[in-house]
Formats: sequence, structure tokens, C-alpha cells
Amino acid sequence: MSNSRVQAGVSRRGFLGGAVSGLAIAGVASGFAPAFAAPKDAFIDGLIAKMSVEEKAGQLSLYSDPVRTEAATFNPSVASVPKTQMLADIAAGKITGLFNGMGVALGRELQKAAVETSPHGIPLIFAADIIHGMKTVFPIPMAEAASFDPELSRRTNRVAALEATACGLHWTFSPAVDVVRDQRWGRTAEAAGEDTWLACQFAAARVKGFQGDDLKAETSLLACLKHFAAYGAVEGGMDYNTVEITEQTLRQTHLPSFQAGITAGALSVMSSFNDIGGVPSTGNRRLLTDILRGEMGFKGFVVSDFTSEEELILHGFAADGRDAAKKAILAGCDMSMQSGIYMKYLPDLVRSGEVPMSVLDEAVRRVLRVKQAIGLFDNPYRSLDAKREQTQLRLPESLALAREAARRACVLLKNDGDVLPLKKTGQKIALIGPLADDLNQLNGYWVVFPDTRKDITVAMAMRGIVGDGNLNVVRGADIDAPIPGGIDAAVAAAKAADVVVLCIGEGQEMSGEAQSRTEITVPAAQQALAEAVAATGKPVVVVLSHGRALALEGAVRNAQAILCTWFLGSEAGNGIADLLFGDHSPSGRLPCSFPQKSGQEPFYYNHRATGRPQLSETDINYRTRYRDASFEPLYPFGHGLTYGRIVYGPTQLSADSLPWAGQVTVSVTIANSGTRPVHEVAQLYIRDRVASVTQPIRSLKGVRHLDLAAGESKTVTFALTRADLAFVGLSMNWQAEPGEFDIWIAPSSSAGTSARLKLLKA
Ligand code: BGC
Repeated sequence: MSNSRVQAGVSRRGFLGGAVSGLAIAGVASGFAPAFAAPKDAFIDGLIAKMSVEEKAGQLSLYSDPVRTEAATFNPSVASVPKTQMLADIAAGKITGLFNGMGVALGRELQKAAVETSPHGIPLIFAADIIHGMKTVFPIPMAEAASFDPELSRRTNRVAALEATACGLHWTFSPAVDVVRDQRWGRTAEAAGEDTWLACQFAAARVKGFQGDDLKAETSLLACLKHFAAYGAVEGGMDYNTVEITEQTLRQTHLPSFQAGITAGALSVMSSFNDIGGVPSTGNRRLLTDILRGEMGFKGFVVSDFTSEEELILHGFAADGRDAAKKAILAGCDMSMQSGIYMKYLPDLVRSGEVPMSVLDEAVRRVLRVKQAIGLFDNPYRSLDAKREQTQLRLPESLALAREAARRACVLLKNDGDVLPLKKTGQKIALIGPLADDLNQLNGYWVVFPDTRKDITVAMAMRGIVGDGNLNVVRGADIDAPIPGGIDAAVAAAKAADVVVLCIGEGQEMSGEAQSRTEITVPAAQQALAEAVAATGKPVVVVLSHGRALALEGAVRNAQAILCTWFLGSEAGNGIADLLFGDHSPSGRLPCSFPQKSGQEPFYYNHRATGRPQLSETDINYRTRYRDASFEPLYPFGHGLTYGRIVYGPTQLSADSLPWAGQVTVSVTIANSGTRPVHEVAQLYIRDRVASVTQPIRSLKGVRHLDLAAGESKTVTFALTRADLAFVGLSMNWQAEPGEFDIWIAPSSSAGTSARLKLLKA
């Protein structure tokens, strides 16, 4: 990759221009007339004119596939419906689509029932949670974000779309574009980390990857932005919990990634489980209608999250199912997922006048417009091709991409004494730990249709390189429990080896939905294993599996080398071995800060300054810190080592001041004085020194990727304009204020030297 490559960009001009502007809200009409209507279309309107109220409610009712039950474990269990009943419901026009089932043969049968026996022949839409690959499994989204390369994500999601549409799917509930600043939350694994700018780049890239260039193409998979909104800000990092954030934070931190996905063409959005300040998202008209459609220009449909419309009752926001259906549809939630309450109550709510027919029609119009946009009316059997199902899964080029993605997702946190890379010959390696050779621990959460038969563990990949003679594989402990004699065997193996590779961390079931943790540490049984192995005095390389940032302790934290490997999918072992043996240099960067202790969470690099910041290690009295930990990360956002010796020169500006409508060039020279080629990720950060709403101590504004040969140096440049310096002010508009800014080009959020820039008044 060349140093001039510009990362997929999302224009921030829209924000400055007021596309996300709080002022616009005041002008929104009250009452329940659909304020932001889908464009009219004679064909769709003709259909709507013929449909009964029941058929309209049916177009707004989506269900988990009761027959193809592969995904049973991903949601609360649902009553199984016999196939005959499902076909009868389809024929009656009571179902708009099904999710988390796959397979072309049955898909065609169901589609035929919809097209040939339902009253108006409206095709079904088939959906699934395709979050990080279908049959070729790619790294979990957080891991992929660690590449800091949205283009990689566009490519992996293109393959996911190819495979998913080969299996009879039209729509994925992805990408999750939540910005997550509390690593206790298990769903941090599904998003792109703690930074809004990075989240925007990945949101746009993922949408483009899924949808491709032509929504009607056989291989295009409709994207769904989720979870709207601020789901990543749940209190205490506990799933489904309350959210209390200011409107300013909502707009500056949590909405931009949705805007980026909408601008990239996403036509569906999923409402989130959480409330914001007491109003659950699925019943929040201001959020789903005024902001999403009115301000952000969203033209598609909103689907509830799994029964979130019915959950308005347990939130204490709706009295019963009827009230919940009414509040959700009036808020702007067009489609109900799984609860069935739209089918049950909407017809009567319309007849009684509590829900205007115009609201129902508008929701149906939005859904049918999207079905039309993806070509279902032109060809109801699109993406239901038995030949593709046989020939397009796990292609060699798809697996090669999975391997590339796996190695580019890994982050080298430390490498004392250059213990890495390992030698391919003449070095005895003890490969220890429960995550070294377990095929069921490679994928991470959300692989709904797994096929692990040909996957590659670390042990398999390493054996292929060094042979059995130099590799001793010992499990040592289970993920959450000791095994009899496990530690003794591990210690004996370590003693007999030159180096230990310790594959430990979270099990894949420890992150994902409803998997919040209070202590984000390596489980005790594995920590004990690590302590015993380290006590042998042999150099230890920790290969960490995890769905979130971890608070590393003791022998794990003090190991000579630590490689973050998240959950990497089908080619995990090969991707890791590529790095361990130095065939490639690590290039991933942390998209989330690693805290020193669990109790620091929520913890993120781009926090505001307090009035009493801790300025040095010894500056501890009456300072912003804990008694037992500073306010510093163990490893900061953006951190990641290579096998080179990378030195950044000073950040330089083409001018000290930036005219209101002008541009400055920021540059830095980066040298690799090491002996190995590297791929470096240079990061542009800013800080607004004085603002009417205080701004983060640093904010990421750009990334450049560059290859540096041994001994080579290159200059990277960024263009900076006023748009990069904007924030959401007290008026809830994006604005920039004249004044001074610190600018860095740096290898991480806590490194580099800054230059001072003055933004001049208009
Ligand atoms: C999750 C969504 C998912 C849906 C359907 C919900 O529990 O929050 O992210 O798309 O289930 O499986």
C-alpha cells in the first residue's frame, strides 16, 4: 500500500451544513402525520390501495425462521411453528420475511408460496445476522477495525455478501455502528471501537461491502445499521441497560456513524433495546422520525430489535401489547421483529382511529420501496440459486482474504528483547493454553451458520511450519477451570522449551450479546497457568483471544511479548503464524484502550480534561486518578508495534494559521531504522484548546497507511480544514470556533509531538 492512499472518507461537511442539526427539530410538525414520507411510486401505491389492513400489518411483521433453526441459540427461544403453519401464514400475507434461517431449496419453496398464493404476491425478504462472514468467517468487527483499514472491511463484507446471497439471503442485520466506551459491555466485539471517526469509516465501508454497487444485483446484501441509538452507552456496560447521555454527546459521539452509513446507502436501521433518558428507542418519535428521517435524511425503513417493541411494556413505557404496538408505529418503527404485536393489534388500532391509516400506509410503503429497491419485485427468486449455493462458499480467494484480514487484525502490544518473531528452525516451542488448538474457539460470537471443519488453529498452523519435533502442545487449563495435572504438564513443557507461546484469554462465548462482565480479566484458571509457566523463567509470548479490551494482570501483563488476536475466524491459525514467524510484520492498532484495571471503565482516550488532571506519575495529590491506578491506559487507543524501529519526526504545518475557508497541510517524516519491512499506520489527532463546549484531549481525524522497507523513511501528509475542527455546540449544531488547536501525527493516541495551529475568524 502506498503512503498516498486516502482512507475511505465520510464527508463532515454535511454536519457543518446542519444535516445533523438540533435546530431543525423545533420545526418538526407535531401530531402523527408521516412527516417524512417515502417517495411515491405508482406500482407500490397501487399495491397498497389493494391491501387489507391485515395484509398491511403482515408486511410489517418479521419472524425468526421457525423451520430452519440453525440460529436457535442467538436469541431468546421462540415457539417452533410447523412448516405447514408457516406456509399458511405466508399464503395469508401475514409475514413480510424470515430471519436466521438459510438454504436455497426451502427458500424457493417459501418464496413460491408468497408469490403464488398470498393475496398480492408480495415476495418475502430473507434476513440473517451476517456479522463477520457467512461460511468464510472473518475477524470479529472489533478485530477488523484494528486494521484501521476500512477498505479491508469493504472487501471482507463483499465476500460475506457473496456467500450470504448464495445461501438465499437478501438482508443482513449488520453493520453494528455503535461507539463503545465501556469494555465491560460484551457487544463491543461487534462494533468498531471507541472512536467516532473510525466508526464512521467502518460504517461506510461495511455498508458498501454488503451492498456493492447495485442493490438489485444477485450478490448485493441489504445492510442494516444498528442499534439506533447510543446502545454502546449502556450504563455500567451492562447489556440492555439504561442510557443517560447529553444530547450533545448523542449527536457528536453516537449519531455520526449512523449518518456515515446512511450516506453510504444503507436502507434499513434497527432500533435499539435501550432507552435514552427514559424514552426507549423503539418508542422514541423524536429519535426515529425527527432526527433519523428529518435531520439525517434516512429514506429506508426502521425495524425493531428482537421484540424491542413489545419490551416497551417492561420498560414501563407502554401499558400492554396494544399500547406498545401503537407507540412503536407512531414513533416511526416500521417493522416489528418477532413479537407479532403489529399483526395482532395494528388492524384494530387503525379501525379505532388510534393509528391513522396514513401512518400504516407509510410504514408499508417504506418496506415495499426497499423490497423494490433490492429487486424482489423484478425477480422474487433473486439470490435463491442452488448452483451458487454449491459453488460460491469458502472459495480459495475468500479464505486467502480471511487470512490477510486475520493477520492485519492482530495488534502487537509489546515485544521485549525482540522475542518475536520466532525461528522456524532450531527453536523448541512449548505451545500452551486452552485456546491453542480448539476449533470451536476461533470464530467469536455471531457466526450463525458455522462450518469449522476446515478451520485452522494456531497449533495446526505452527505444526505445519516447525513440525512435531520442535513443538509441544499442552492445554494446561480449560477456559474457566483448571484441569487435573494441567499446570504440571505445562510447566514441564515450558522447562523443556526455548520459548513458550501461551494461547489464553476469553472464550468466544464471553463476549457478544448479553455477555457483559464486571472484571475484564483473563479467567482465573488461565491466569494461574500463566503464573506457573512464567515462573519457569522461559520467555513467554502471550497470544491473547478476546472480544474486548482486557485488564491484563501479573504474568500475562509482564510477558515478554503480547499479541492481541481477538477472534479471527476461519484462518485464525494461519494469520497468527504469519506474524509469529515473521513472514509479515504486525500492523494492527488498538481501536479500544486497554485499561490498567477493570474499575477504570468506562475508559477511552478521547475523554475531556478535568480541572485537576494528573500531569506526571508523581503528581498524585488532589488529581484525577484512582488511589490504586492513574488515569492512564495500560495500552492506548491506536497503539500497535511492528517488527521495525519506527521513529516519527516532529509534526509540521504548512502554515501556523488556518483561514476560515482555507486548508493547511500537516506532515511528518517517518523512518524505519530497523532491519525488517513494516506496514505503519500514521494517525492524525487534534485538540481544540479552548471551546464553548470543552473538547476531548485528543480526537482522531485521519489515518494513513504506508509500507516502509528497512532503513527507509517517508513523509506522510494530511489536508486539514475547518470541518476537521468542528464539534456539536450548545445550539446542537456542528460548528468550529476560532482559536488554537494542537495537531499531532503520531503512532498512537498518547505518542507524538504536537504543532500549534490557529483557526482564524471568517
Ligand atoms: C440483537 C440484534 C440481532 C437480532 C436478531 C437481537 O437480540 O440485538 O443485533 O440482529 O437479535 O438476531
